[in-house]
Amino acid sequence: MEQAEGKKVIYSAIQPSGNLTIGNYVGAVRNWLTLQREYECYFAIADMHAITVKLVPAELRRHTLELAALYLACGIDPAQCALYVQSHVPAHAELCWVLNTVTYVGEASRMTQFKDKSRRHSDNVNMGLMDYPVLMAADILLYGANYVPVGADQKQHVELARDLAERFNSRYGETFTVPEPLIPKGGARIASLQDPERKMSKSDTNPGASVFLSDDRDTILRKFRRAVTDSDNRIVFSEDKPGISNLLSIYCAFKGCTMSEAEASFAGMGYGEFKLAVGETVADVLAPVQARQRELLAEKKELAALLEAGRERAFYTSRKTLSKVYRKVGFYQG
Ligand code: TYM
Repeated sequence: MEQAEGKKVIYSAIQPSGNLTIGNYVGAVRNWLTLQREYECYFAIADMHAITVKLVPAELRRHTLELAALYLACGIDPAQCALYVQSHVPAHAELCWVLNTVTYVGEASRMTQFKDKSRRHSDNVNMGLMDYPVLMAADILLYGANYVPVGADQKQHVELARDLAERFNSRYGETFTVPEPLIPKGGARIASLQDPERKMSKSDTNPGASVFLSDDRDTILRKFRRAVTDSDNRIVFSEDKPGISNLLSIYCAFKGCTMSEAEASFAGMGYGEFKLAVGETVADVLAPVQARQRELLAEKKELAALLEAGRERAFYTSRKTLSKVYRKVGFYQG
């Protein structure tokens, strides 16, 4: 990894909690690609976050490696970024503990995602679920991140990380960089194809709701063909047309065009033809990514070596921050 003296720092992560959706791609990974050339980047696989809901252990292991291969297949360059698995770097859990002591139970319990997940996993409202944003703050603050590129649903968590950084700094003296969220202008909230009022999610139980990065061409076309639209026949971006607007946003993100260009190219077209065009555009972009991911997964040793190199880099930076934090809070260090 190149030394990146003086560069600003970017941190982001994705949970290996299932197959990634095109929402994760458009809201997160795709935006990391341009950032990696300009910034010092840390991109993690957040396996410690993933176990806050019940998962099959063997699947978590498989998804972890698949996600590493996917990062690379999408174009994340391990020569420029530290790509690593969160649980390989113990400082995340260690800083989380210290940050817990400056987090109020009230503010943690008010987090939208905590309330939402508590409802959806009512048989497993565990401490980890509530602590999730504090661990996320530890991730970000360990590396002195200036910017955190995420989808809109994570904005509140990054804001908590800012609050915790400021609170810690005012209690113990200047320690942490206060991070800012970096939310993409288009595609920050890709909606479900079946219920455009809801976010597209890895864990949606409706099989037509989410398009996965692992879906084959036929599946992608079928899901778009069945996507919910509305009863008038105009292909325009508008608040009262959430289904069509979502499809247009997906199209723009995958085609790399503006909303007005997209609207102009679909003017006068029927919904059936439009949905086919969106599906084909998505499938065309994903096909080479899927092929590259398969090749990378066949080279497990090389993948493991890359993750080890990322771990070393992350380990070094995170230890430096943690020692400083331990000194500030008054832990005796010999
Ligand atoms: P996760 O795995 O739930 O989501 C990964 C990223 O994908 C974005 N995203 C979306 N963007 C647009 N439309 C959607 N429908 C959509 N669904 C998901 C999320 O906003 C996110 O950017 N808690 C984080 C993982 C994490 C993290 C961190 C992120 C752990 N530590 C530190 C940043 C910094 C999460 O949402 O994962």
